[in-house]
Amino acid sequence: MGVVKVQALEWDGEVLRLIDQTLLPLNQEYVECRDYRCVARAIRQMQVRGAPAIGAAAAFGMVLAVKEAASDPPGFESFMRDAAAELRSTRPTAVNLFWAIGRMEEKLRHLAGEPLPVIIKQMESEAVAIYLEDQEMNRRIGEYGAALVPPGARVLTHCNAGALATTGYGTALGVIRAAHEQGKEITVWADETRPLLQGARLTAWELMQDGIPVTLIADNMAGYLMQQGKVDLIIVGADRITAGGDVANKIGTYSLAVLARAHNIPMYIAAPTSTIDFSLEDGRGIPIEERAPEEMRQMGGHVTAPPGVPVYNPAFDVTPAELITAIITDRGVATPPYRESIGKLAGK
Ligand code: MRU
Repeated sequence: MGVVKVQALEWDGEVLRLIDQTLLPLNQEYVECRDYRCVARAIRQMQVRGAPAIGAAAAFGMVLAVKEAASDPPGFESFMRDAAAELRSTRPTAVNLFWAIGRMEEKLRHLAGEPLPVIIKQMESEAVAIYLEDQEMNRRIGEYGAALVPPGARVLTHCNAGALATTGYGTALGVIRAAHEQGKEITVWADETRPLLQGARLTAWELMQDGIPVTLIADNMAGYLMQQGKVDLIIVGADRITAGGDVANKIGTYSLAVLARAHNIPMYIAAPTSTIDFSLEDGRGIPIEERAPEEMRQMGGHVTAPPGVPVYNPAFDVTPAELITAIITDRGVATPPYRESIGKLAGK
């Protein structure tokens, strides 16, 4: 099994160490969080990003919060309520964030009445479990997904659903990694992913580190490549999947799905079961994050638009289930109709 060189987050028992993804690929610097507010800030500013990675980071944020709260036992409960609320308020779309915080809160409820050192230890074990389970889920997604990738395939991906977006290996890039490890000699088209360039800065960098052949394209080139017969399949990650199979992912995913349908190209989603939101039937209920106008008016700190020009900057879009060929999860591959297949995989 191949070794993944990139690690988005590391926990040493005291400090959560995050590679600062806003500085990649030019600088490899780390943010060291010793309190939950630092973790919340890092998620909000996208120093750590990608649905499973922000879930795991928030879980460790809850561990740091428990340690902070332990110094004032009478205020423990209200401190933890505030910490969970602040971590939840960082980014609205990826359900993994809410899933992980909810799981940590559930653990805390079960520990009520235990001595504080026990609570701290058990909360840490729960966060470590979330971290390790995510790695394991990515490996399984990779195995299931690689079976769908023909030898020599030219695979297009969008944004970064790799080791940097998870606790290791990746979802969409996990499938790509697994197919590569199986010797399938695949090549990757990486969409640059405006406005924050996760494809150019992160996916291209990550794949190059692992020696997987990657070619960078601007987002608006994808349709031309498909028309030229240069894309065999598309695979992307997800921030939230509804019970009916609608998928929120990085802005631009929907356009790719429409293009894929027009050109008869398979459109695959790869995500762990922690990304499925069974409380939502369809994509209309998914909150879509809107980010700062400056992300559109500037690029890499350089002004690229008239100052003050009005900007609309939604960070995600929703791809309807009918445009998705299959959803690759850690429990197997779901195909339409998704209401049945997703439910079955997740045991609902
Ligand atoms: O805004 P980002 O960079 O956090 O968006 C990330 C994505 O859209 C990913 O495709 C998604 O989170 C899946 S990551 C395995």
